[in-house]
Amino acid sequence: MADRFYVTTPIYYINDTPHLGSAYTTIIADILAIWHRMNKDDVFFLTGLDENSIKTVQAAEKAGMNDVRIYADEMTGKWQSAWKALNFTNNDFIRTTDERHKKNVLEFFKKVNAKGDIYKGVYEGLYCDHCEEFKLERECPDGMCPTHMKPLKRIKEENYYFKLSKYRDRILKHIEDNPDFIKPASRRNEIISFLKQGLIDTSISRQHLKWGIEFPLDRSHRFWVWFDALTNYLIPKGYWPAQVQLMGKDIARFHCILWVGMLMSAEQEIPKTMYVHGFFTVNGQRMGKSLGNAIDPVALANKYSIDALRYYVIRDISIGEDGDFSEKALQERLNNEIMANYSNLFYRVTSFIEKNFGGMMPEKGEYGPAENALLEKAGNAVQAYERHMKNLELTRALAATVDLTTEVNRYIQAKEPWKVIKTDQNAAATSLNLAANMLRTVTLLYYPFMPNRCGEGLKALGVKPQWWNVERAIMPPGHRIGSIMLFKKTAEPLTAQPAAAKAAPQTMTSIATIGTMAAKKEPKREEKGIVRSIPLSSKPEEIGKEISEEIETMKGVEKGIRKRKKTAFNEVFISAGADIPKQITMDKKKEEKPEDDLVDNPLSKKKKAAAKPKKPKKQKAK
Ligand code: MSP
Repeated sequence: MADRFYVTTPIYYINDTPHLGSAYTTIIADILAIWHRMNKDDVFFLTGLDENSIKTVQAAEKAGMNDVRIYADEMTGKWQSAWKALNFTNNDFIRTTDERHKKNVLEFFKKVNAKGDIYKGVYEGLYCDHCEEFKLERECPDGMCPTHMKPLKRIKEENYYFKLSKYRDRILKHIEDNPDFIKPASRRNEIISFLKQGLIDTSISRQHLKWGIEFPLDRSHRFWVWFDALTNYLIPKGYWPAQVQLMGKDIARFHCILWVGMLMSAEQEIPKTMYVHGFFTVNGQRMGKSLGNAIDPVALANKYSIDALRYYVIRDISIGEDGDFSEKALQERLNNEIMANYSNLFYRVTSFIEKNFGGMMPEKGEYGPAENALLEKAGNAVQAYERHMKNLELTRALAATVDLTTEVNRYIQAKEPWKVIKTDQNAAATSLNLAANMLRTVTLLYYPFMPNRCGEGLKALGVKPQWWNVERAIMPPGHRIGSIMLFKKTAEPLTAQPAAAKAAPQTMTSIATIGTMAAKKEPKREEKGIVRSIPLSSKPEEIGKEISEEIETMKGVEKGIRKRKKTAFNEVFISAGADIPKQITMDKKKEEKPEDDLVDNPLSKKKKAAAKPKKPKKQKAK
């Protein structure tokens, strides 16, 4: 039976259009969803919009729109079309203005209220409209919100409270007993130490609001947006609890403390893992709508491709840490890694096979030490990749794939089949067969990260995007493959770097109302060393340069071969017919034999019958 995999993103505020930070969370969720679909899991990927916020009303006013609902609908259209342009594979898109959501909130509240966990009380404190939360005064000595750098309001209100403090010990125990519950460990430790300082109850209703879900116990109140919004995760029927809930570090406490307390009160299961990622920054400052330094992910995707953008955000920022956005770095990743290390390799191997073997996989002969070493590296890389994906270490999984690609380049570089073909056709065929099968492996590994172009790559190879094909779908001699250049190099001028943000936040705070003590101050980024962009390794770059030069040379060689050598090569080509050794050990579940590992390559117009090298054309006698 398929495993269930339910992944969520936070639902986004609609006071502005999406920026790279919001796209980042959704890219991570999409990668996980695609990888689990490759594993034939029963996947549900939920994202959506958090509309019942004061921010929505303020933004509508600012836009000169009296009808907040019309504003919300317009913004929803913009978010949905951005997500469509980025080709996300979410199964549903929740809006908190949906009737189904309202029903869901009321049902959930009923359970919490029936538990005796709701009471009426008065709270006075500093409030941030942008965070939609009361702040602890000791965290904001200057009266400004440290996240948004906006003045805080002093508010005294009679509200309805949720008895969160009642669940403190259980929440703490759950976190301590389940080391994988909050990831990465640094965030887990922060939450634990926050909880150890004590927890106070949190108000879950607000007075004098015209927008939001009415509070059933008192119609002059509406639900506090967080109590309303968190319940969205329960919408998909039959999928709760989520396997992975993703969020940025600013909203970790809402999810890891408040949401868990709410679920305990309503006697619902606790999600398996809360994954807390870092921020995209611009010149060291958090990228954000209200900070005025937002970067449009769709414009970047249009310029560099969706896949290059996905690759860049995962490769350059180790999930969990902060990273400064740099369009230059994105361009370099595309040109020096994706192109040079992968796309050129793909084109070089497939076009050589197309031209010299009629697009049929060449036969393979005896493996020597180089082939066995490469297979071993591939086996290790695949195992590491699988482990990292399961641990949600996407940056590491991608790095393992890049390193394997570099190894395949090294191999083919050393074997030089385009030269060897003139003297030893069997040897050339063997190295091309292995290289093509390695392309299949790396393309499958890249697929969750770059599903659009790698999807095309897999079609060209005639391989389905299924995880078991990493091991199973060895492309046999005669299997048809097509050639394709997957990416385009770019030399476009840099345009996306925005102006510096309006103000520089110094600290991170969140959900102050649920803590009795001051939240730990976020260390300055330099002190903590949290900016960890992974440097471009010189290896892929060097290899990339060589490859580009070689593609040029190869084109010449190919032409030469076609002119002079084709007959000789094809005549002496002998099928060795040996099997490629098993590369990796896989889970039991995945060992079931799939019925359809390989498919006809839609790029190839040739008929399947001929599993032989291309028949030479008769050379004209001079
Ligand atoms: N509406 C709430 C979430 C409710 S979930 C029940 C919210 N919305 S948000 O639009 O402000 O943020 C949504 C997500 O985007 C958060 O996880 C936040 O951390 C993330 N990001 C916002 N700016 C970001 C960056 N600059 N970088 C990375 N992620 C960022 O909070």
